[in-house]
Amino acid sequence: MKILVTGGAGYIGSHTCVELLNNDYELVILDNFSNSSKDVLDNIKKITNKDFTFYEGDMIDKNLLQTIFNENEIEAVIDFAAFKAVGESVSKPVAYYQNNVSTILNLLTIMQEHNVKKLVFSSSATVYGNPASVPITEDFPIGNTTNPYGTSKLMVEQILKDLYNSDNSWDIAILRYFNPVGAHESGLIGEAPIGKPNNLMPFITKVAKGELPKLMVFGNDYNTVDGTGVRDYIHVVDLAIGHIKALEKLNKENKGLFIYNLGTGTGYSVLQLIETFERVNNIRINYEITDRRPGDIDSCYSDPTKSKNELNFQTKKSLDDMCKDAWNFEKNYHK
Ligand code: NAD
Ligand code: UD1
Repeated sequence: MKILVTGGAGYIGSHTCVELLNNDYELVILDNFSNSSKDVLDNIKKITNKDFTFYEGDMIDKNLLQTIFNENEIEAVIDFAAFKAVGESVSKPVAYYQNNVSTILNLLTIMQEHNVKKLVFSSSATVYGNPASVPITEDFPIGNTTNPYGTSKLMVEQILKDLYNSDNSWDIAILRYFNPVGAHESGLIGEAPIGKPNNLMPFITKVAKGELPKLMVFGNDYNTVDGTGVRDYIHVVDLAIGHIKALEKLNKENKGLFIYNLGTGTGYSVLQLIETFERVNNIRINYEITDRRPGDIDSCYSDPTKSKNELNFQTKKSLDDMCKDAWNFEKNYHK
């Protein structure tokens, strides 16, 4: 089966491409390297010893999408291409809506023209806003997003639901990721944010490496086990496998539009993550407790029952693995 992966050179996309190739899918990757680099493609080949077709370009370019669908017998699309920095989305909302919403409208138009109606879409737990309770099931209310990035995911979810309602020959999986961390065990691909990281794990690995002096722990007065924020960290390789499971589901008889949480179901606090990172990697992390970060919530973790029952998806990797692999990538890859 031939799959188009948009944003396949990115963090989650590259790990998913590895799993797809390992499962004998044929791949066409589209990326404009706005947040990734070309060596990722070589590293995907090194890990899998397999090849794929690559197009460098922007998903906003309808002609390019047309060419890709003309030149390849695409049967399904996994759409990762988007901007994802929450803070930046507040200062550049137009760029975010353009890149995260307009581009998918182009993609859906061309898919319709070519009668390709299988899509896996990268959404986020951010669509739940500040949940009334945890764990979060897929039927929790969505909305009340606090930034244009989150709103862009919400908008695309709605567009996909409307599309499906208009034509239920579409097969769509909306995957709501919790907090992806870690890296491929080879250390060849991983999370390589451009500039100063905003998320916890990449910040920790930069402090461990001495590239940043100190981690700021944003608040210790939350209603959690130790007062620091609790999140559902999921190893990126487990997350990647979730996409294979979603594709398998879309290829089965009971098709439709499906929404799944992809998380482990367990929440860990910031301090628990730091302690685990220090223990498994035998390295000290310099940190200081500071004020809360605006917009942060106490606890966010998934109820993974639906994806377990319907996708046969279960995470295998532990928090230890996430911390080990994140550090292994940081040490090996970033010279
Ligand atoms: P990433 O930035 O590493 O990967 C995105 C890739 O898409 C990059 O390689 C980038 O160059 C490419 N890209 C962006 N806009 C493009 C365009 N217009 N045309 C072609 N290529 C384009 O991000 P990621 O962490 O791998 O995230 C992948 C998807 O998952 C995104 O949609 C993101 O919003 C979503 N998501 C990520 C997280 C997370 O914590 N990483 C959480 C929830 C959801
Ligand atoms: C953030 C985004 C969310 C996105 C998710 C996954 C915000 C408000 N939300 O979620 O939209 O889907 O990333 O990419 O940015 N922390 C520190 N110090 C730091 C960084 C983080 O203490 O330097 C704490 C945070 O307060 C939080 C936890 O670590 O409790 C995780 O933070 P982060 O990795 O940024 O993820 P989220 O805030 O869950």
